[in-house]
Amino acid sequence: MKKINVTTSFTVYNDLSELSKGDIILFKKAINIRDTAYAPYSNFLVGTVVLLANGKVITGSNQENAAYPSGLCAERVALYYAASKYPNIDILKIVISAKSNNQKVNQPVAPCGSCRQVIAEYEIKQTKDITLLFMGETGKIIESPSLKNLLPLGFDKTFL
Ligand code: THU
Repeated sequence: MKKINVTTSFTVYNDLSELSKGDIILFKKAINIRDTAYAPYSNFLVGTVVLLANGKVITGSNQENAAYPSGLCAERVALYYAASKYPNIDILKIVISAKSNNQKVNQPVAPCGSCRQVIAEYEIKQTKDITLLFMGETGKIIESPSLKNLLPLGFDKTFL
């Protein structure tokens, strides 16, 4: 037997002012779309921006449902729209901003496991890394250079 260590590495920014102008604009869009979240059950509002290689910026917010599992995260709302409207255009970057109406979210909010799986599908399909940037309402921002950096040992089409 042998033991394998998997290393992931991230860039941590102290606040938005440390980002490039382009990334600040994307975060502003994520913060704006976050207010369109329909989240009466969790009171947790998420906004996502997907930047495509053709320059298009697709936005989405989480949409909840009285039948809880029927709701969808902001990331997948934006990604599925982007993939259906621009099916063959690479995804360059995903920017996520989250806040709660119940408490101050002062730490970066990473995408949930299901969203990581969906992002992994597109990253593998396009064979180019997708940069992820995420934050809470305030506080630090985390940047991951790829999705696989967030999901080692993922399930993919090679198993099928
Ligand atoms: N949520 C997202 O939109 N993205 C995530 O990555 C984590 C969770 C949403 C789903 C649900 O509407 C609420 O946040 C609480 O889980």
